[in-house]
Amino acid sequence: MSAADPARRLLAFLRREPVVSGERLSGTLGISRAAVWKHVERLRARGYRIEAQHARGYRLAGVPDRLLPAEITPRLAARRFGRRIVYFEETDSTNMQAMRLAREGAPEGTLVVAERQTQGRGRLGRSWSSPNCVNLYASWVLRPSLAPAAAPQLSLAAAVALARALAPLAPGLVTIKWPNDCLLDGRKVAGILTEMDAELDRVRAVVLGIGVNLNATTRAFPPELRATATSVRLATGRRVDRIAFTAALCDALEAVYDRLLQEGFGALIAEWNEYSCLTGREVTVECAGHRTTGVVRGLDASGRLVLVRDDARAGAADEHVEHIVAGDVTVIGGYAAIRPVTKRADGGRSEGR
Ligand code: BTN
Repeated sequence: MSAADPARRLLAFLRREPVVSGERLSGTLGISRAAVWKHVERLRARGYRIEAQHARGYRLAGVPDRLLPAEITPRLAARRFGRRIVYFEETDSTNMQAMRLAREGAPEGTLVVAERQTQGRGRLGRSWSSPNCVNLYASWVLRPSLAPAAAPQLSLAAAVALARALAPLAPGLVTIKWPNDCLLDGRKVAGILTEMDAELDRVRAVVLGIGVNLNATTRAFPPELRATATSVRLATGRRVDRIAFTAALCDALEAVYDRLLQEGFGALIAEWNEYSCLTGREVTVECAGHRTTGVVRGLDASGRLVLVRDDARAGAADEHVEHIVAGDVTVIGGYAAIRPVTKRADGGRSEGR
């Protein structure tokens, strides 16, 4: 539906007014009564519930649980993120589609969403389980003025935005696990996959892909993920309005992205640390076949994980402190050891539940 599309204008009218007569619709939209009826039928076929009330007119009684651009746009505050939306019922991977659009010149903030993915991709060559119409699979085209080496900061910043958007839905349960997993109650609820189109010293485009398990039930997860993954619905018992969440995530991403570009990653570290579940934990980090075990001290100003290696316990000499750029973190003691850290009224931090 384009902005000029009569069906879209008709929908905008029905959103504004409780009941609108066919005659008024016909006059305002400049189409015949028969054409009004035809567009109402088209909208019904897309899942909109439009009641025809005798002698009064049409009433919008419900919108479909679909990530339709016409539903997301009216809820956006963001000026760039999500202002252009490309929607798929099904696609291979929203990241692949967004990269294709980026190479064709799509503007910054272009959002690709899909109800399901057939080749959803995760980090480190893994796949991303993408069941139909229950979650969010979304990718944004970014054109940051950053050096390619600084691009990982985009994923870290996106994790902060993701935590901000999730926090009102699951108060006290949201944590971030470096580099960019979001957990609810210690189980993975969302992941971020950032891919780049770059030259040696210049980023042409970045695709920021985010998958969030929103309303998936246990059966929607493959058996091997059931012990470690969750959805907002499973963790809280409440269904999520996927459309409202998508708009809220666009808003949070734009705010965090603008701050990152204007002030640098340092401006986001305090918020990152508030959500981080790793600080003070003993972990193993694996990168390119290399394994390091130690206790997490926090993040440095470029977003690297600062780890005090186990072999430093006795002396704590600085050569035993590693600043890790990338890797896969396993918390010793498992996911059960991860609990949200909540801020106490006295400004201290305490373990959740
Ligand atoms: C991870 O491994 O944690 C990252 C998962 C990223 C999944 C999202 S879903 C939308 C976008 N399209 C993809 O193919 N992957 C990302």
